[in-house]
Amino acid sequence: SAPKLSPIMRMHQDATEFYHRVLLTTKAGERGMQYAKKRELDHDTLEHFKIGYAPKQDNVLITYLRGKGYQDDDLAKSGLFVQSKDGRLFDRFRDRLMFPLDNENGKTIGFSGRRISNDKTEAKYMNSPETEIFTKSKVLFHFAEAKRAARSEGHLILYEGYMDVIAAYKAGVKSGIASMGTSLTDDQIYMLRRVTPNIIVNYDGDDPGVHAEERAARMFNKDGNFNLGIVVLPEKLDPDEYVRKYGAEKYREEVKGALTPTDFFLKRLAQKYNLDNDREKITYLNEAIKEISQVRNPVEQDMYVEKLARSAGVSIESLKANLARERRKNN
Ligand code: CTP
Ligand code: MN
Ligand code: MN
Ligand code: MN
Ligand code: MN
Repeated sequence: SAPKLSPIMRMHQDATEFYHRVLLTTKAGERGMQYAKKRELDHDTLEHFKIGYAPKQDNVLITYLRGKGYQDDDLAKSGLFVQSKDGRLFDRFRDRLMFPLDNENGKTIGFSGRRISNDKTEAKYMNSPETEIFTKSKVLFHFAEAKRAARSEGHLILYEGYMDVIAAYKAGVKSGIASMGTSLTDDQIYMLRRVTPNIIVNYDGDDPGVHAEERAARMFNKDGNFNLGIVVLPEKLDPDEYVRKYGAEKYREEVKGALTPTDFFLKRLAQKYNLDNDREKITYLNEAIKEISQVRNPVEQDMYVEKLARSAGVSIESLKANLARERRKNN
């Protein structure tokens, strides 16, 4: 039989159900529902992700949980509440759309709440603090479900945001996961390694997103156990915005067209130089050869050399000579 859950674990499952029910069935939840509609979250999606709403009042959840018999010392260390100087507890999440964050078994261990008001002085997302059950660096949004989908889709897709995972899910890509807005950690890479070597990274198409993709690609390459694809969306769009603008089918094509890390780095490199200028072009070619020299598979290396020769209008032989020199330096 299933192991008995600790009070803090049970409390989180109850909070998930509570926020979800508030959103779907109550008057207080109408405000949240309006926002959910604006973000095009249909009923099935709200159900699948167990999305909820934390109302504006500061004592709704605590009243509910006390009514279920939870003790204040357990409530205090759950992370669901903030404590005033005189020790009183108040709901931490207020007027937010609630995304439950699950452990590997699909049990809620924390929350992230999306601000729905226009008050930009409030953080856009508010997360649970670190608790005895919640360690930010070891959580991946939607991981339990995505693991299952990875078996049929053959990969996991890493996103920046919850709304991106959700948009992908609606577009038929069900193996999406997201870290907690922080950059990827070694613990998370370890979690992925146990599921599949095939990882697609699809962060936002803006500058911070593409830089984070570079960093992630270096981390996966360093680990050495992964077969990586990288998607860079046009017009600085994030996946959620892309699906809205271009639709599900176009989005799935973008995923199919994911670049290898080397193609991704070479493309980034080409954008840094003015290739009409000979001196810049020489620097670019030297940098490109350095990148290609990191590729372990010789057939793959050849492929990149040939492509580079063709696009730069130089001979394959000369690039190969440079590559050989670069390889000697690496050893
Ligand atoms: N994030 C966060 N706190 C913030 C802003 C962002 O924790 N104040 C995290 C969230 O996990 C968010 C991710 O970083 O999903 C990516 O940030 P961003 O691209 O700015 O947000 P979106 O996911 O695009 O959110 P939305 O579409 O709701 O605006
Ligand atoms: Mn339900
Ligand atoms: Mn972003
Ligand atoms: Mn975004
Ligand atoms: Mn977004």
